[in-house]
Formats: sequence, C-alpha cells, structure tokens
Amino acid sequence: MKKIIGGNWKESGNGDTFKMLSELKEEQFQGLEAFVAVPSIYIARACREFPAYLSTAAQDVSTYADGAYTGEVSAGMLKEHAVKYVIIGHSERRIHFGEEDSDIAQKLRRCLEYGLCAVLCIGETAECRNTGQHRAFLYNELKASVGGSHKVEVDIAYEPIWAIGGSREIDIEQIKEITQEIRKWMVDLEITGRVLYGGSVNIKNIRQIINIESVDGVLVGNAALSSEFGEIASNMH
Ligand code: PGA
Repeated sequence: MKKIIGGNWKESGNGDTFKMLSELKEEQFQGLEAFVAVPSIYIARACREFPAYLSTAAQDVSTYADGAYTGEVSAGMLKEHAVKYVIIGHSERRIHFGEEDSDIAQKLRRCLEYGLCAVLCIGETAECRNTGQHRAFLYNELKASVGGSHKVEVDIAYEPIWAIGGSREIDIEQIKEITQEIRKWMVDLEITGRVLYGGSVNIKNIRQIINIESVDGVLVGNAALSSEFGEIASNMH
C-alpha cells in the first residue's frame, strides 16, 4: 500500500503558495499518494494547476446535499471539480465552529455518496490525556463520527489537539500506541481505511513517524505552506 501525505493550508495560502507548490519536484512524491487541502475559494484553481501527482482536497463539506444553505459547498460540487479527498472533523472545525460528531457522521455520508475519499480527524485535548481518559474519548469520538455506519471506508487521522501548531514536541511512543489502538477499533467498528498521523509533522520528525508500522501516512499543516512539504515527502520513501 502506498504511503500517503496530505497538506492542509487551513485559512492560509495565496498565489505565492501555488507557485511554491509548482516548484516542488515530482521525484519527491514518487511512490506516494499526495493531496493538498486548500480553502474552498482555491479548489477550482488547485484542480486546474496542481501537478498530476498532487490531488486536490477540500477542508470541509456541507452536511446538506444542496439547497438554501448560504456559504456551504456540497459534496456534489466537490465531485464535479474532481476533488479527490475531503478532510472532515478537523479539531479546528469542532472547536471554532461547533461541529458535533453527528454533523461529521453526516459529512462522511455525503462523501461516501459521491465517492469522495474522506479523511476523518480525531484527537484528544491535553487535559483529556493528562487525566488518562484519552483512549475512551478517542474510541467514542471515532465511533460517533462514523455514526453507526457499518463497513464504511474512511481514512482516520489521529491528530492530538495539543500536538497541532507546527512546532510542538511530539512523542513517538504515544503515536505508536494510539495508532495501534485505532487499528483495533477500526476492526471492531468495521471501518476499512488507512491511519494517518497529524500534528507538528516536520522535516525533523517525519522519518521517525513514518517508520511506525501502524502509521500509513501524515497530515501536514504549517509545513505544507512551504517547500518543507516536498522535503517531508522525500523522507517518506
Ligand atoms: P500542524 O497542523 O502540522 O501545523 O501541526 C496539523 C493539522 O492541523 O492537521
């Protein structure tokens, strides 16, 4: 199975970031599956301009199929633009926009209806981890975010909230332990898909992360805004 690298520009990126991406080298991504999730205003441009080895991803999708929902972008529109991946349930959407597990389950259904590859993010807060409740929390978050769907195909990104931010210290043993657990939970919940890690992935820690057997790939935030994205990819081979 190919390793996967996803970038997430969040509410960043501009013409210069497109230029930076166009200057990355195809060899850096050889043998990998790669995508970049751009703000919705840039989706059409990304679909036109991204090199063939880089798929366009959306950072979110509407829970609704279509209709009078000002500001929303539907799964059908993403499909029409040849978007391949959709990130759902990112902690920033959960925290700043009040997304609930039930909304995310609905978004997942929309992605599946339209044949879009969903990347579902789950992650605990520092407080949750410090009180030792993270395993139970993550299992429940995963279960509720797939909303009781069985035999669902979705990639899971483990993104501890305290590790997000581009330059946080990460703990390889913790990533190993939780991604192994996630694999077991996926069997239990009849989910098939890959397991990604996200949170302060950078050129210094990528080798250690990708060498973890239970990690199939990474989701990169801050470092996806610069040429470091290509360097991270080169170190995944
Ligand atoms: P980061 O973001 O790489 O900047 O920590 C990761 C994410 O939010 O997916």
